[in-house]
Amino acid sequence: MDKIKKGVRLDHISKIYQDPKTGKDFYAVKDTSLTIEPGSFVTLLGPSGCGKTTTLRMIAGFESPDEGEIYLGDEPINALTPNKRDTAMVFQSYALLPHYNVFDNVAYGLKLRKVPKDEIRERVMHILDLVELTGMEGRMTNQLSGGQQQRVALARALVIEPSVLLFDEPLSNLDAKLRVSMRTEIRRIQQEVGITAIYVTHDQSEAMALSDQIIIMNKGVVAQIGTPQEIYYHPVSEFVADFIGEANFLRGKMTGTENGLAVLDVEGDRLAVAPREGMRVGEEYTVVLRPESAALSDEGGLPCTVELSCFMGSYQNYHVRVGNTLVKLAENDPRNKRIYRVGEQCHLTFAPDTVHVL
Ligand SMILES: Nc1ncnc2c1ncn2[C@@H]1O[C@H](COP(=O)(O)OP(=O)(O)OP(=O)(O)O)[C@@H](O)[C@H]1O
Ligand SMILES: [Mg+2]
Repeated sequence: MDKIKKGVRLDHISKIYQDPKTGKDFYAVKDTSLTIEPGSFVTLLGPSGCGKTTTLRMIAGFESPDEGEIYLGDEPINALTPNKRDTAMVFQSYALLPHYNVFDNVAYGLKLRKVPKDEIRERVMHILDLVELTGMEGRMTNQLSGGQQQRVALARALVIEPSVLLFDEPLSNLDAKLRVSMRTEIRRIQQEVGITAIYVTHDQSEAMALSDQIIIMNKGVVAQIGTPQEIYYHPVSEFVADFIGEANFLRGKMTGTENGLAVLDVEGDRLAVAPREGMRVGEEYTVVLRPESAALSDEGGLPCTVELSCFMGSYQNYHVRVGNTLVKLAENDPRNKRIYRVGEQCHLTFAPDTVHVL
């Protein structure tokens, strides 16, 4: 597939639906602008109902935006029907043709496009090889496992050589283990073909494992866009921090600075953290602490009481109370570390630069 790669751009896109119960209009997607680079793998991630599917369906052309314009490369595509767009979609339900075999399912889109028979055969066999289904082309789709059906669905989308591949929770019907291996497959194939992929999920580990960029959505608006690392280490809000991985929130007023660190009063104790720009003495801040960044110690840090101490093999899981705040932490490789028991008084420590100030 030696096509010119195309990106996607949403320019102030909104979609208004009517609430069937109240009859009132509401924004399912509100004033969303974003740029998806050609050849990148981007996921739309967010809680149920936040507008992920609606956004994807507008890009595919199954819904039209009420405001704004969608571009594929430089071309505005709002007016194009789905089959006139250079996109293909892989659905959660696979939507395979039940009375067709694997070959005919994959060939279907090419037949519709009146591609010559010889070329169809060549392209279908090539794609089946790519998704590792060679030899299965004569099987009916009801004789396939869930993972194999998912591969047929993927092959069917890839074979028409779209510039952009759209996925709406394509792995949610598979068991946990297959989901992990199929997502690796999807990433491999996307990189091999060099196609732009937009992938909807509400599974944060899937988003982290797959994406160049993650777009976090909340209630119809974009909450943050960034690489998995940017979003994990530098969330812009409590919502994002909580949605990606586990997060603890320590709240305190800034009392001063010391050796380039910001000093906060957290639950009556001093806490020094790497500052972010614009922090001011006297203001309240929230500090995001990831469970794996913290440790327990006999001294230093914030005094705390152990409320839960659980051996998990690769880590020791603790819940400790710092004043009124419950903090969850995971100490890795606990084999040769001192284990704190429930009820013990100790200290919560972490390096000042492992936290993020909101
Ligand atoms: N055709 C429709 N008519 C009215 N409301 C709709 C319609 N389609 C979706 N909605 C509403 O729009 C909002 C966004 O829906 P959407 O399907 O985009 O969510 P989602 O983020 O994909 O959620 P999920 O993770 O559950 O799939 C929801 O409140 C939903 O109920
Ligand atoms: Mg959805």
